Amino acid sequence: MSANDKIQIGVIGAGNIGNVHIQEFSQIPDAAVTAVTDVYQPMAIARAKEYNIPNVYATYQELLQDPSLDAVIVAVPNDAHAPIAIEALQAGKHVLLEKPMAVNAASAKEIVKAHLKSGKVLMMSHQMRWESLNMQVKEQIEKGALGSIYNVKTGWLRRKGIPGWGTWFTQMHKSGGGPLIDIGVHMLDLSLHLMGSPKPVSVFGTTYAEFGPKKRGIGTWGKPDWNGFYDVEDLATALIKLDNGSTLSLDVSWAANTDFIDNGPYIYLMGSEGGASLRAGRGTLHTELFERTADVELTVDSNDEGPRQRMSRHFLDCIREHREPLTSAMSGLTNSLVLEAIYESSRTGQLVTLDWSLD
Ligand SMILES: NC(=O)c1ccc[n+]([C@@H]2O[C@H](COP(=O)([O-])OP(=O)(O)OC[C@H]3O[C@@H](n4cnc5c(N)ncnc54)[C@H](O)[C@@H]3O)[C@@H](O)[C@H]2O)c1
Repeated sequence: MSANDKIQIGVIGAGNIGNVHIQEFSQIPDAAVTAVTDVYQPMAIARAKEYNIPNVYATYQELLQDPSLDAVIVAVPNDAHAPIAIEALQAGKHVLLEKPMAVNAASAKEIVKAHLKSGKVLMMSHQMRWESLNMQVKEQIEKGALGSIYNVKTGWLRRKGIPGWGTWFTQMHKSGGGPLIDIGVHMLDLSLHLMGSPKPVSVFGTTYAEFGPKKRGIGTWGKPDWNGFYDVEDLATALIKLDNGSTLSLDVSWAANTDFIDNGPYIYLMGSEGGASLRAGRGTLHTELFERTADVELTVDSNDEGPRQRMSRHFLDCIREHREPLTSAMSGLTNSLVLEAIYESSRTGQLVTLDWSLD
């Protein structure tokens, strides 16, 4: 690939989010989606027709053998992330990997090891880091406006939002978990990033399943499969202790009997000099001036290109400039370690210390 060549991309998994990635990369002049595959072939063929993708492969292994491809996007159910990402890196492809990194920390460690050997870019797909309000808050944090951030409350609480009941989403061996691993991973990733990436040390958490097993709390994302089953949590709560002494509390649900403000994601950052709230599409900075509280409302440009465009371009920039992405392999592993520790803490009732060894 020369500096003027388009980066050629293959998409593995042409479902909901695979489609979103194809749309985003199709808008970028110096990239081209030239191959697609899906175990459900009609899906791959339909996407190829819609976006003029020249090559449809029957399997991801065949796609990985295509020497013209520089990079792949892995947009398959969670249990297939590790095997496909590892094979892709071994085949010499750069990888944009959907979240969560893997269904458990052991598989995430295998991906990190394959990445270290490969010398290729491995980027996690966490588009929330590229949301305008979140970026503006990060900029203020980097300028010192919040001082030292010592406590963060984050979460994503849905009242009635179980996705694809009975499909891979709600089967532990395929998904690795429920809302914690599905939407909690985004909030964990974004919070740690805004906090300046302190290292998580220990975790205390509990998970519950009060709706899913009774086929209640069903949302609109994904088509239910009533012949399937549900063995993941539908609510999780956790307190994470970081190596700089700060604390992060995380609450997520797909379903719960309460009246949440907007069913959406939120983050409250509390610092020694200032704070920030991000929720319901609003971002506010807080401080105290002249012994009074003072708030500054952040705004988003009306022609903002959106987080997914910025994220897609970042992936391409990292490939061209041999840079480590913002959402690096290590950030994916960090998230996996914390998520697994929350499940373990829930099972054992104990505080869990994170195991960072790569063996
Ligand atoms: N970043 C985000 O905002 C976001 C949003 C939704 C989903 N996701 C993640 O994206 C991934 C996919 O989710 P989705 O909602 O698109 O699911 P989906 O079920 O709509 O799509 C997954 C597709 O992968 C295909 N597939 C399964 N195994 C395959 C294999 N071995 N090779 C090729 N194709 C295979 C399936 O046939 C299906 O079409 C999940 O890991 C999910 O957590 C991320």
